[in-house]
Amino acid sequence: MLRIYNGVKWMKIVFCSAVCATIALCVYHNWVHAKELDMLGNGVVKVHRSKHLREDILYGDRDGVTAISLSHNANQKPVDGNIKDLDEAKAKIRELEMRIKLLEGGNPRRFPDVKFLNYRTRKRILVTGGAGFVGSHLVDSLMMEGHEVIVVDNFFTGRKRNVEHWIGHENFELIHHDIVNPLFIEVDEIYHLASPASPQHYMFNPVKTIKTNTVGTINMLGLAKRVGARVLIASTSEVYGDPEVHPQPETYWGHVNPIGPRACYDEGKRVSESLSYAYAKQEKVQVRVARIFNTYGPRMHMNDGRVVSNFILQALRNEDITIYGHGDQTRSFQYVSDLVEGLTALMASNYSMPVNIGNPVEYAIKDFAKKIRDLVGGRSRLTFSDAVEDDPQRRKPDITVAQTQLHWQPKVTLQQGLKKTIDFFHKELLRSSHSNRNMFQPELSLTNPILNAKAEQVEVKR
Ligand SMILES: NC(=O)c1ccc[n+]([C@@H]2O[C@H](COP(=O)([O-])OP(=O)(O)OC[C@H]3O[C@@H](n4cnc5c(N)ncnc54)[C@H](O)[C@@H]3O)[C@@H](O)[C@H]2O)c1
Repeated sequence: MLRIYNGVKWMKIVFCSAVCATIALCVYHNWVHAKELDMLGNGVVKVHRSKHLREDILYGDRDGVTAISLSHNANQKPVDGNIKDLDEAKAKIRELEMRIKLLEGGNPRRFPDVKFLNYRTRKRILVTGGAGFVGSHLVDSLMMEGHEVIVVDNFFTGRKRNVEHWIGHENFELIHHDIVNPLFIEVDEIYHLASPASPQHYMFNPVKTIKTNTVGTINMLGLAKRVGARVLIASTSEVYGDPEVHPQPETYWGHVNPIGPRACYDEGKRVSESLSYAYAKQEKVQVRVARIFNTYGPRMHMNDGRVVSNFILQALRNEDITIYGHGDQTRSFQYVSDLVEGLTALMASNYSMPVNIGNPVEYAIKDFAKKIRDLVGGRSRLTFSDAVEDDPQRRKPDITVAQTQLHWQPKVTLQQGLKKTIDFFHKELLRSSHSNRNMFQPELSLTNPILNAKAEQVEVKR
C-alpha cells in the first residue's frame, strides 16, 4: 500500500516539473523574440529586439515593412558590416530630408499677412477669370481683407503664376473650369471677370468670346440666383462703341457696329448687361455692373496687343514705337489698383445701375507713346501705320456716378503707374527660369502711405 502511495507521489512530482519546465521555455522564447514597434513618423518604424539589445530601423509602416535599412547592436561592439549599414542608412535619411526640404521650398510657406475675419464677417467670394490681369489683383485685395476666395479660370489668357503666391493658403482655392459649363458651388459674392479683354485675344475665337459673355454670364447669374449671392459683372467702355458723346456718361446708349470685328466682345458685353438686369428684374438677383475703361499695370499679358504693353515692350527693346492712325486719337488709362478699389466699392454699395470705372485724364496716343519712351529712357522713334478698323477715336469716362454713389475716384498718377508697369515688363523680359517666382508685394494703393510702409516691411522680411 505504502509502495503504491510513494509511486503516485513521484509521478505527480515528475508531471509538475515537466509542466513548469514547458512554461519556463515558452516565456523564455517569447522574451527572446519580443519586438517592440515604435512609429517615428515619415514611414520609419523603430524595432527593438530585447535579447541582443538590437535596434533596427525599418522603412514602411505597421502593416508592411518595405526595406530593412540597418541592423545595429546597441550593446555589443558593432562589427564592420554593421557600421557600413548604419552609415548608409544615415546618408539615405539625410538625402530624404533634403528632398523633403526641396519639395517644401517650392511652395512658399510664408504667405502675405492677411487680415483675420471671423465666420460672421468672412465671405466666400468667387472670382471668375481670377488668374487674369485684373482678376489676380482683385484676388490679392480680397485675400488681404481676410475673405475666402475661389478662383475659376480656363487659363485662356490667365496664368497660374498670377496667383501662385496664394496657392496653399487656407482661404484660397483655384479651380480650372470653363464658365461656359455650369458650376455648382456655394458662395456669398461673385465677381464675374472671365472674358478675354484685348482685341487680339477676343478676336482669336469670336464665337467663344460671345459664348463666354452670354452662356458664361447666364451660368454665373444662375449660380447667383441659386445660392442668393450678389454678382458683379465686369462690363466695358466698349459698350459705348465709337462714341458720339464725349465724355461718356452711363446714360449714353452707345454707337456699336454689330457686325464689325469687335462685335463679338462689344455686343457680348452688351448682352451680358441685358442678362444681368433681366435676372435682377425677374429673379431678384442682386447685380452690380462695372463699365471698365482702359486699365494697365503689372501682370498684363505680354501679348496683350494694346497700346500700354506694345509701347512699353517696344521702348524696352529700343525698337520703333508703332502708332496706328495719326496718333491724335485719345485714351484714358487707369492703374489697376484704382480699378480694384472701384470694383470692391461697387460690390459693397447699394447702387445697382451701371457705373463707369476709369480715369478721366485723357491723353493723345502719340503723347502717351512719348511719355513711355521718356520713362524707359531708350532711343525709340515713333512710327505711324494705318488705323485699325472700328478703333474708337475718343474715350474718356464721365465718373460722376462713381464719385457720388461710391465716393470713388482714381488716385494713382500716370507717372506712378507706368513706372510700376515698366518695372514689371522689364523683369518679365529678363526672366529666364521658372525659379524666378512672382513675388507678391501688397500694394493696394500707391498713394496710401500706411499700406506702402507695410508692403516695404514684407519685402524686408523676405
Ligand atoms: N483690362 C482692361 O483694360 C479692361 C477694360 C474693360 C473691361 N475689362 C474686363 O475686365 C475683365 C478682366 O479683364 P483682364 O484685362 O483681366 O483680362 P485677362 O484676359 O487678363 O483676364 C481674363 C481671364 O478670364 C479667363 N477666361 C476667359 N474665358 C474664360 C472662360 N470661358 N472660362 C473661364 N475663364 C475664362 C482668362 O483665362 C483670364 O484669366 C474682362 O471681363 C474684361 O472684359 C478689362
